[in-house]
Amino acid sequence: MFQEAKLHLYIHPAIQVLGIVFGYITLFWGAKRFLAVHRKKKFLFPWKSHVLYGKISIYLWLFGLGVGVYFTHAEWNYFSVTGEHYTIGIAILPLLLITFLTGYWMDLFKKKRQYLCLVHGGLGAMLCILVFVQVVTGVQVFSLFVW
Ligand code: HEM
Ligand code: HEM
Repeated sequence: MFQEAKLHLYIHPAIQVLGIVFGYITLFWGAKRFLAVHRKKKFLFPWKSHVLYGKISIYLWLFGLGVGVYFTHAEWNYFSVTGEHYTIGIAILPLLLITFLTGYWMDLFKKKRQYLCLVHGGLGAMLCILVFVQVVTGVQVFSLFVW
């Protein structure tokens, strides 16, 4: 099952799973912010930590995506061989960029907001769901091509 010669193919999933750890902690804090702002619940929002962990997760996912594409091409001489995993992976790209840019903007120009934070939080939550789907499709890629 575990082919030694294929160890490099585990670099991409390892980076993405590390990104998931940071991303889900970011989402947890973001959910508290959502409840505090839109549902008037009493929750503290660790602003700086949310921004830091959010940046780390998005950098990891972006870098990991590049590593996945690189190794897929190096291994099978072809892009998009992984089907659904590739399609969802590419759909994730704009979500990564928009979540980052909206978050960056709100961090740069701090003020009371109603809508931009909703767009940011909604896209961030969607991102976290799709990334989880990638764990499932990623395991399918392993069982089809590697194991
Ligand atoms: C995994 C990535 C991320 C997720 C899932 C996420 C999720 C969220 C959620 C759900 C909220 C609450 C939105 C609301 O109150 O309606 C939020 C708020 C916020 N996020 Fe993120 N975020 C992510 C990354 C980032 C990044 C990279 C930055 C900055 C560069 C950032 C900056 C902010 C700021 C400043 C707020 C507070 C906005 C406000 O209430 O005025 N986030 N985020
Ligand atoms: C943020 C989450 C992820 C994204 C955006 C992503 C995206 C991608 C992309 C775009 C490729 C290139 C596919 C192609 O050209 O056909 C790829 C390859 C691959 N992905 Fe992912 N992926 C993610 C998470 C995962 C996870 C969690 C696993 C494993 C459980 C995984 C397993 C694989 C495998 C085995 C490959 C083949 C190349 C390699 O192993 O380096 N991916 N991924």
